[in-house]
Amino acid sequence: MSPLEIARAVLLIAHILGLAAIIGPFILQVRTKHDFRFAPMLIGAIVQVVTGVGLVAVREIGDLDVNNAKIGVKMAIAVIVLVALIVAVVRQRRAVAAGTSDRVSLPWMHVAGAGAILNVIVAVAWV
Ligand code: HEM
Repeated sequence: MSPLEIARAVLLIAHILGLAAIIGPFILQVRTKHDFRFAPMLIGAIVQVVTGVGLVAVREIGDLDVNNAKIGVKMAIAVIVLVALIVAVVRQRRAVAAGTSDRVSLPWMHVAGAGAILNVIVAVAWV
């Protein structure tokens, strides 16, 4: 394996683990109404953006095809996922500080989980 192939493999493994960190906790909590755990989802969302950019860079350097429209759509969805999780965390912290329920974060968790699943569909189905 060339150094570039190793870099692509490492980034792709991190990319798959990143999506698991978002979608796993989402599925576990999809019917939960309060006391959400957002830390793994937030870390996963950051990992997706960072490793996604890295994967594009490695493909460019290695002269592999890059579908710019697909990457643009994936980046837009990944940013929506990340922003939704930041909003969810902020709203949860405010609710905890105010002594109220963090149910206000529920729709944001759903946006993040659905967005990540949508990005898996885009990644695999857009050929
Ligand atoms: C929630 C966010 C994301 C999810 C769930 C996701 C999911 C996936 C999946 C499942 C694959 C493997 C598909 C395959 O190889 O057949 C993949 C590959 C890839 N993703 Fe993402 N992705 C996300 C965000 C991003 C972002 C933001 C970028 C770039 C800006 C990106 C760039 C890529 C690239 C370039 C590959 C191909 C890797 C290769 O085989 O060389 N992804 N993604």
